[in-house]
Amino acid sequence: MKTLYPIIAICLGLIFTCACEESESGSDSDKAAHEEQPPQESSIERGSYLVGIMGCNDCHTPKKMTDHGPEPDLAKMLMGFPSDEELPEIDPTEVTPGKWALFNGDLTAAVGPWGITYAANLTPHESGLGAWSYEQFKNAMTKGMHKGLEGGRMILPPMPWQNYVNMKEEDLRAVFEFLQSIPPIENVVPAPVPPGEL
Ligand code: HEC
Repeated sequence: MKTLYPIIAICLGLIFTCACEESESGSDSDKAAHEEQPPQESSIERGSYLVGIMGCNDCHTPKKMTDHGPEPDLAKMLMGFPSDEELPEIDPTEVTPGKWALFNGDLTAAVGPWGITYAANLTPHESGLGAWSYEQFKNAMTKGMHKGLEGGRMILPPMPWQNYVNMKEEDLRAVFEFLQSIPPIENVVPAPVPPGEL
């Protein structure tokens, strides 16, 4: 029996050598397969994904009522508060500092201690972001600067720009590229109403 051990050891050695060689040649073919893979998702696709998971539609897209409750009306995607809609009357004593903040029915307008704000038109129409540069978009999203311009007012609630200050450059660019690729919708969103003028 003892005399068999060296033979078994040699056989095992051979098997391992073969296995190694095979896996080396396997890695070559892996490399080839990798090179043949389709290109990575485009920046616009990534932007679409990010806009979806970051909830921009919650406030910037009007809703339609369905059997499952309100859903974003994609025919009006990201057009902001529809300028032909009338808001119900507001009792200013309800929304003075320290009291309630309220939304309109489809969450495209809100009133609170900051006054009334209307979700902006994010489509590439000139009444939306059509004339915006990427730099303006970046300033608006990460510094809260209205229209991304120096010396203007700050962007008001409930736009959660503070959540976006640490967004990676490539993600921000992807969101901008997606927004510039969607159907343009003409919609001049009203300017905010200050608290004293409710
Ligand atoms: C909770 C509601 C809400 C969410 C979520 C939201 N926004 Fe807004 N956004 C608003 C409102 C309201 C305004 C208008 C604020 C104002 O007039 O100061 C606004 C304004 C803007 C503006 C224009 C600012 C300007 O200078 O006029 C941009 C650009 C914008 N939002 C982009 C986005 C993007 C992109 C997302 C998703 C990543 C998003 N918003 C998510 C409510 C929201």
